[in-house]
Amino acid sequence: MAHVSSLPKHFLSDKVEHFTESVIREMTRQAMQYGAINLAQGFPDFPAPEEIKQAAQKAIADDVNQYAITWGAKNLRAAIARQMQVWQGIEVDPEREVVVCCGSTEAMIATLLAVCNKGDEVVVFEPFYENYGPDSVLSGAKPRFVSLRPPQKPNDDWTFDAQELREAFQHHTKAIVVNTPNNPTGKVFTRKELELIRDLCVEYNVLAITDEIYEHILYDGAKHISIASLEGMKERTITINGLSKSYSVTGWRVGWAVAPPAITNAIRKVHDFLTVGAPAPLQEAGAAALSLPGKYYHDLAERYRTRRNHLIPALEKAGFRCYLPQGAYYVMTDISAFGFKNDVEFASHLVKDVGIACVPGSSFYKHAKDGAHQVRFAFCKKPETLDEASRRLEKLGSR
Ligand SMILES: Cc1ncc(COP(=O)(O)O)c(C=O)c1O
Repeated sequence: MAHVSSLPKHFLSDKVEHFTESVIREMTRQAMQYGAINLAQGFPDFPAPEEIKQAAQKAIADDVNQYAITWGAKNLRAAIARQMQVWQGIEVDPEREVVVCCGSTEAMIATLLAVCNKGDEVVVFEPFYENYGPDSVLSGAKPRFVSLRPPQKPNDDWTFDAQELREAFQHHTKAIVVNTPNNPTGKVFTRKELELIRDLCVEYNVLAITDEIYEHILYDGAKHISIASLEGMKERTITINGLSKSYSVTGWRVGWAVAPPAITNAIRKVHDFLTVGAPAPLQEAGAAALSLPGKYYHDLAERYRTRRNHLIPALEKAGFRCYLPQGAYYVMTDISAFGFKNDVEFASHLVKDVGIACVPGSSFYKHAKDGAHQVRFAFCKKPETLDEASRRLEKLGSR
C-alpha cells in the first residue's frame, strides 16, 4: 500500500512536473492584488470594435447558441480562407484545410498533439512565448531551443545563428515553431530568414508551425510574411492565428489552424475531443471581423505605434535599455542598470512598490539565468494607462 505522503505525487501525471504555472497570468494576479497597472499580460484595456460587438450580439439574438460544426462555422472558415488569399496569396480550401479552435492557444496544443510522437523534437526560438514549452511537453515532444540574440546597436534586430539552427534540425525533429511577429522580442522574421527556415524544413522533412497572431501589428514598414506562402511550404505548414489580438477580443477565445487536408483531419480529431468547438455566436462575429476594411488594420497598427512611442521613452528615462519592437505589442528591456539580483526580484519590486506589473524575462527562457536581466512590458493599453505608468516609473530608483 502506498504511503500517505507519497499519495499526492502518485495521483499526478509526470507531465505536469515538467512545467510551472504561467508566470504571465501570475503577474496579472499580482497586479490585481497590489492595485498595479498591468503591463504584464497582453490584453487591451480599451473597447473592441463596435461592428464586431454588434455582430456578436446579433448572433446571440438570432439564436446562434448551439454547437457550431466542430471544426468551425462555415462563415468563419470561408472568411479565413478568403483573407489568407487576400493578405498572403495563399489558396486555402475552407472545407478541408481549416480548424477553428478555442483561441490560437488551443490551435497550437491541438496541432502539437496531432503531429508529435513521444521522442520527437520541436525547434523553438528562445526567448519564446511561454506556452510553447508546456505545449511541447504535453504533446510528448521535447523542445530544442535556438537563441535569438538581442540587438547590439539601436537599429539592429534580434538575430539567430544559421549553423545553430541547422544543428537543431538534426535530432528526431518533427517541427519548428515560428512566431512572427514575435512575442516577446517584437522581431518580424524577414523573407531571407524564412527562406532559410524553409530550406531546412525541406532538407530535413520537418513541419513548420507558425503562430501569426500579431500579423497586423507591424511598425516602421515591417512586412509580415506567412511561411506557408513560400514555395514548397504550404504542404508542410500549419498556420495558426486568431481573433484575440487583431480585433482586441482576447476573452472571446476564437482562433484557428490552417493546414494541408491530412494534417487538418488529425487536428480536427484532437480538437473535437478537447473542446468540441469554439463559441458559436463569436465565430459568426469573427466572420464579421474578418470582413472589416483595410483601413481598420492600418489604424490598428498606427495606434499601437503611437503607444509604443509613448511607453519606450518613459522606460528609457527611468533607466531601462529597450529593444525597439518591429511588430506585436511588447517591449523587451534590459534591467542591468538597476542593480537588482535578478528579473524576478526586480518585477516583484516594480509591482509592489512602484505599482506596475511586468513579466520577468526568465519566463521566456529555458534557463532562468538567460533572462535574469530582462523584463517585458505590454503596451496594448489606453493612453491614460500609459500616462499613469510613465508617472509611476519616475519613482523607480536603482539599488
Ligand atoms: C505569441 C502568442 N500566441 C498566442 C497567444 C494566445 O492567443 P489566443 O488568445 O488566440 O489563445 C498569445 C497571447 O498573448 C501570444 O502572445
